[in-house]
This record gives sequence, structure tokens and C-alpha cells, in this order.
Amino acid sequence: MNVTWINFSARGDVRGLLVPMEAAKDVPFAIQRVYALLHMQAGVVRGAHAHRTLRQVIVALGGSCRITLDDGRDSETVVDLNDPARGLLLEPMVWHEMTGFSSDCVLLVLAAEHYDEGDYIRDRLEFVKLAKETFR
Ligand code: TYD
Repeated sequence: MNVTWINFSARGDVRGLLVPMEAAKDVPFAIQRVYALLHMQAGVVRGAHAHRTLRQVIVALGGSCRITLDDGRDSETVVDLNDPARGLLLEPMVWHEMTGFSSDCVLLVLAAEHYDEGDYIRDRLEFVKLAKETFR
């Protein structure tokens, strides 16, 4: 599974935690876009798509959720996002679904490109077919 954890140099002291995320240093690309996901109701599913070319890093700034990853080759991988000092680098062509949101979950996503709906694969069958062709 083409996913990697990035450990940020979090600085905690009695005043709290500071987590720097620097483009091209901590994050292996020039960040073009930042977005946040919050106020998720228990039981909802977010994501449920793959990207053709986009690279992203997902960080649970607060709370927790689960992310299920499928690259169409390996068996599905399920990881917990629950640490603001650690980001999950999500490469292209990985189907991902976020579930199990805690009520205080706040996700921060650092993206290498501006928003482009054309980069999304939202149809699961199309993804499976494309993944087979891509990785043949
Ligand atoms: P959506 O892709 O459904 O969220 P997710 O798959 O992560 O659960 O996005 C919800 C809406 O927000 C959809 O209309 C697209 C829009 N959107 C933007 O305008 N800019 C962005 O950077 C993102 C990620 C989504």
C-alpha cells in the first residue's frame, strides 16, 4: 500500500502543542491548497474516492477517525488517524474512505494541487478497472 506516515516536529510544553508543517520539508511537495473537514456526524463516510494524480497529507488535528485504503492490488489497509503530530501521505490511485469520526474530529488536509474535480475517481468500479491497468 503506497501510504507513508510523516512525523512532524511537534513542540509541546506547558502551554500546549505546536505542530509545524513545512512545504517541501516535512511535506514532500509544494502545498497549493489546505482544507479542513470537521463537524462530521457519527456514522457518516467521507472520501470514498481516489485521485488520478493528486498527493495529499491528512492529519487529525483533533479527535480521531479511521481511514480505509485500497490501491486495487494489496489487501485493504485500515489505519487510525488520531495524532496531530503525524500525517498520512496519501499517494494517487488509492481509494480512501474515512469513517468512525469522534465528535471532536478535525481533519486537516494539505494538497499538492488546487481543487480539480477532473482528478477524482468517484466510481468504485472505474477505480478497480483503472488500478488494474495502471499497475499491470
Ligand atoms: P467531497 O469531495 O464530497 O468531500 P469528501 O470526498 O472529502 O468527503 O467534497 C464536498 C464538496 O466540496 C464538493 O462539492 C467539492 C467541494 N470541494 C471544494 O470545492 N474544494 C476542495 O478543496 C474540496 C476538497 C472539495
